[in-house]
This record gives sequence, structure tokens and C-alpha cells, in this order.
Amino acid sequence: MLKIINICGARPNFMKIAPLMRAYRANDDIAPILVHTGQHYDPNMSDLFFRQLGIPEPDINLGVGSASHAVQTAEIMRRFEPVIAEHQPDWVVVVGDVNSTIACGLVAKKLGVRLAHVEAGLRSFDRTMPEEINRLLTDAISDLLLVSEPSGLENLKREGTPDEKVHFVGNVMIDTLRANLSKAEQSTVLVDLGLEPGGYNVITLHRPSNVDDAEIFGRIVDALEVIQQDLPVVFPMHPRTLHNLSKLGLAERLEGLPRLRIVEPMGYLDFLRLMSKAAVVLTDSGGMQEETTILGVWCLTIRENTERPITLTEGTNTLVGTDPERMVSEYRRCRSTPLTDPPVPEKWDGRAAERIAAVLAENALLQA
Ligand code: UD1
Repeated sequence: MLKIINICGARPNFMKIAPLMRAYRANDDIAPILVHTGQHYDPNMSDLFFRQLGIPEPDINLGVGSASHAVQTAEIMRRFEPVIAEHQPDWVVVVGDVNSTIACGLVAKKLGVRLAHVEAGLRSFDRTMPEEINRLLTDAISDLLLVSEPSGLENLKREGTPDEKVHFVGNVMIDTLRANLSKAEQSTVLVDLGLEPGGYNVITLHRPSNVDDAEIFGRIVDALEVIQQDLPVVFPMHPRTLHNLSKLGLAERLEGLPRLRIVEPMGYLDFLRLMSKAAVVLTDSGGMQEETTILGVWCLTIRENTERPITLTEGTNTLVGTDPERMVSEYRRCRSTPLTDPPVPEKWDGRAAERIAAVLAENALLQA
């Protein structure tokens, strides 16, 4: 029996863990243990996703909550170490690029446990981004690097990662999207918000680089002021963004835009439905760049770089930075260009988790 401890902590991890837990269930030789670090803890940032995605209750919840990067990372490590000692797993599997990913990866390796990283090799080449540090460090210590798109293979090769550690398995986030598309069609979110399919835009923002700085956040609001004159904008707001809005003195301006509607963070199914029928999605999220590519919806990414370049070359994504004129002109281009179905990136076929379970089983005896 292969004992695998799986780590999740923050919202984007839950969509990646769900198909893995399902794939393990289909494999009699795998005994999974699910650990939630508690990095995200609000009911609509966490519990709702477990319910909607059919993720089993975590076996262990470390309950760390919010803190500075150092304190959060250290606290996860401190609380995770005894879990490894108690369960003696064959593998620890970490996903994505959040603080929980690197914290648990470090603990596993220091205790001599094999580490697998799902979504390995992605690089924004922007080391001011906390996630880029988490990606680089996690990949550097992983025994298996499970890659979602070809750029990941190139990056790992350039960094000197031995080929035998690297496996191109596809995109687990897209496994979840494909498994839930028809369920999302039952969502009443459009009716509830009084929206017509194709008749609105969606924005999400949470990156510190965008929402911790009054001038930059202000520039995004400048662009939104123009964009909402064309079509209503729905803004499901991340807790970090909500905290900062009043702190930075922008609440009154944003709330004063007549066709912009701030709503609570949504569950997976409502949000998938909302994204799938939007005219244009504006975001600084990583996962949404991938999801809009598969949904065939225009995506404008409010960043200067992306670690997911396949969404630019094969998908529907454009980098627009934070210059309001560029944001608005790219928005107008999207609005006036009919979108034909983009090609589907290789192995974004809904079966990435199955491939990962197979790779883990095949490498059961790999030297840690
Ligand atoms: C984290 C990830 C980011 C990911 C994002 C998705 C890191 C470094 N960043 O960023 O990669 O894209 O999750 O959401 O791990 N808060 C709540 N309730 C919650 C969670 C957070 O109120 O359930 C508030 C807290 O005030 C906290 C702030 O949001 O200080 C930021 O949360 P944190 O988990 O530190 O980082 P995110 O910005 O969510």
C-alpha cells in the first residue's frame, strides 16, 4: 500500500486536490491522507469548495490561519512535522505555489520523505512575486515534477532538472473544470444577479502587487470606470482586496461606479457559471487564465507577466499590466473581435490526475 499525504491550504489548491483524491480512490494500491493547512479558512474560501467538489473531509487540519509570510510558513512547518512522524508516508504531494506548498515540501524533504510537486516548472521570472519564490524552491527539492504545460518542461530543463524526475501529465485544474461544467449549468447565479449571458464582465483581484498599493489599485479603478460604461462588471472580492479597499481610501470610488457590483467570493460552481458566460474576464489570478482558455472566454490579465504562457499562445489570454489606457484598449479589442474556439492545450483533457496517480505508483520505490 502506498501511503500518500496530500497537502491543500488555499482556495486554488482545492480544485487541484479534488481530482487527485478521486483518482486515488480508483487505485486500490494507494492510501491517501488529506491535510488542510488552514491557510484559507473562511467558509466561502474553503468549506464550500470541499462540499461542491466532493473532496473528502481532511484527515488533519493544521488550522494555521493568516499571518505574515514568515510566520504563516513557519507555523505550517511546525504543525506539519509531527504529522509526518506519525504517519510515515511514502510520498508527500504538494500542489501549486502557495505558502502551504513550500512549507510542507520543506518539512517532507528534511525528514527524508519523497516529494511530488503538481504544477511544477511554471515560471513568471518575477521574483517579487511570493508565488515565484515558492515555485522555484519547491521544484528545487522535489523528487517528482509533474508538469501542466510545455513551458514547464523547458524551464526545468534549463534549470538542470534531471529528465527522469519530470513528467508531463497535464492540468489538474482543467480536470476539475471539465468534471463540473454540466453541474455549473444548473447554477442560478446569472438570474440571481440579473445578468444576461454575454452581457457582463467579471473581475477578480488579489495579488499584493495590485491591491496593496493605492496608486496601482487606483489605476485599475480608472480602467473599470470606463469598462463598466460598456457592460456591467461583477467583482467577487477576495478578503485581502476587501480589507485594502477602505485602507487605501478607494472604497467610495469603486462602490460609486453605478454598473460595478461588488459581491462576496463565490463557490466553485457559481463562479464557473459566471465566468463561462462573461463577455470579458479581467483578473490577476493564475488559474483563471487557464480556465478562460478552456471556456473560450476573453481574458485580460492585469499583470506584466504570466507563468502560464500557453494561455497567451494557444488560449484567450492577453497581458495588459496596470496602465488604464492599455487595459481599456485591449478590452475594446476583445469586445469587437468575435472569439473562435481556441485550440485545447495538450493534455488538458480532464485526465491529468489519473496520470499523476499512475506516475506515483510507478515510482513507488524511487530513492528519496
Ligand atoms: C494566497 C496565495 C496565492 C493564491 C491565493 C488565492 C500565497 C503566498 N499566496 O494568497 O498564491 O493565488 O491565496 O486566494 O500563499 N483571508 C481571509 N480569509 C481567508 C483567507 C485569507 O480573510 O480564508 C485574508 C487574511 O486577512 C489574509 C489575507 O486574506 O491576511 C491574505 O491571505 P493569504 O492566504 O495570506 O494570501 P492570499 O492573498 O489569499
